Amino acid sequence: MERVYNFSAGPANLPLEVIEKAQNELSDFNDSGMSVMELSHRSKIYEDIHNEAKEKLLKLMKLGDDYELLFLQGGAYTQFVTIPMNYLEDKSSAAYINTGSWTAKAIEEAKFFGNVEVIASSEKDHFTYIPEIPEINKDYKYLYICTNNTIYGTRYTKDKLPNSPVPLLADMSSNILSENYDMTKFDLIFAGAQKNLGISGVTIVAIKKDFLTKSAENLPTMFDYKIHAEKNSLYNTPPTFAIYITGLMAKWLINQGGVEEIEKMNIEKAGKLYDFLDNSKIFKNNIKKEDRSLMNVIFFTGNKDLDAAFLKGAEKEGLFNLKGHRSVGGMRASIYNAMPMDGVESLIDYMKKFEMENKQEA
Ligand SMILES: Cc1ncc(COP(=O)(O)O)c(C=O)c1O
Repeated sequence: MERVYNFSAGPANLPLEVIEKAQNELSDFNDSGMSVMELSHRSKIYEDIHNEAKEKLLKLMKLGDDYELLFLQGGAYTQFVTIPMNYLEDKSSAAYINTGSWTAKAIEEAKFFGNVEVIASSEKDHFTYIPEIPEINKDYKYLYICTNNTIYGTRYTKDKLPNSPVPLLADMSSNILSENYDMTKFDLIFAGAQKNLGISGVTIVAIKKDFLTKSAENLPTMFDYKIHAEKNSLYNTPPTFAIYITGLMAKWLINQGGVEEIEKMNIEKAGKLYDFLDNSKIFKNNIKKEDRSLMNVIFFTGNKDLDAAFLKGAEKEGLFNLKGHRSVGGMRASIYNAMPMDGVESLIDYMKKFEMENKQEA
C-alpha cells in the first residue's frame, strides 16, 4: 500500500527520511554487523548514539549545561507520579493548572504524595481555553502545567507561559520542539517521544541541575531523578532503539532549520486549517482563537452521522486517524512536526469537497 497521511495523536507519523534512514541501517549499523536493536547499551557504539541524541535535543531546546537531559521509561504518565515523588515527599503543596484530561490525571496522581491545589481551571467550559493564572503563592514546591492539550486542542502561547516565582514544570508531550518557547523558564519538562520526537518507549525529561539537587532522598531507584542523572540514563537498560530514533528525529529537526523554522511551518500549517474552519459552513472549531493548538486541531459538524460519513470518506482519500478523542467526539487532525504541508492541504481539499456535497445536511 502507498503511504497515507496519518493524523494520529500518537504514536504519530514520522518523516519518511527518518524511517528510510533507520531501514537502511537496520541490519548493519555503522559497520558493526549488528542492528541498533542488538547493540549492548554498554558498548561505545551505543553510547555514541545515546550521547549524540542527548546533545542534539539540548541544542534544539537551547538549554546549556545547567540542564540534564534524561531518557526514561514508563511513558509520560509515569512522570505524573515521579514528579510528586521527588518534590512532594514531605506532604508539602504544589500548584496545578487544569487544562484537560492529562492535567486532571497528573493532579490525581500527585494527590498520593502531597497537597495539590488547582489554582486555575477551564473545566467548566469544557477546556476550550487556557485560564488566566492568578498570583502564585511562593510556598508551593512547584507550578505544573501542560503546554499543549492533545485531546481538547488548546495550547499555551509564548506570552501565556506563567512567570512563576516557584519552579515551573510542564508536560510537553504533544508540542515539544514545535514552537520556540524560552525553555529556560522551565525547571523540568517532560514528553513522551511518540508524537513529535520519535516512537513510543522513551520519555524525554529535561531538568535544571539546581532543581535536581532539591529532589527527595531515598527514593526507589527507578523513580529517583538523581540516580538517572548520575548514570546518564544508563542505570538499567534504556529503550535503545527508541532513543536512536529520537536522535534521528533531532537530526531531522536541525536539518529543517531548528525550532524557529519548524515553528514557522507549524503556524502556517495550523493557520491554513483554522482559516478553512472559520469560513466553513459545516465544520466548526470551538476553541478560543488565541489558545488554539498548533498540533491538535479539533473540529466537528455537530451531526454524528455526518462526522461518521466524513471519517469514512477520509480513508478513501488516504487521510487516516482523524477521529476525535472518545471523550470529545468529532474529528481531530494531529499535525505534528513531521506532518508535511501537503498532508494539511490534502485534508482541506477533502473537507471542501465534503462540504460541497453535504451543505444541505448541516
Ligand atoms: C499531553 C499528554 N500527556 C501525557 C500523555 C500520556 O503519555 P504516555 O501514553 O506516553 O504515558 C499523553 C498521551 O497522549 C499526552 O497527550
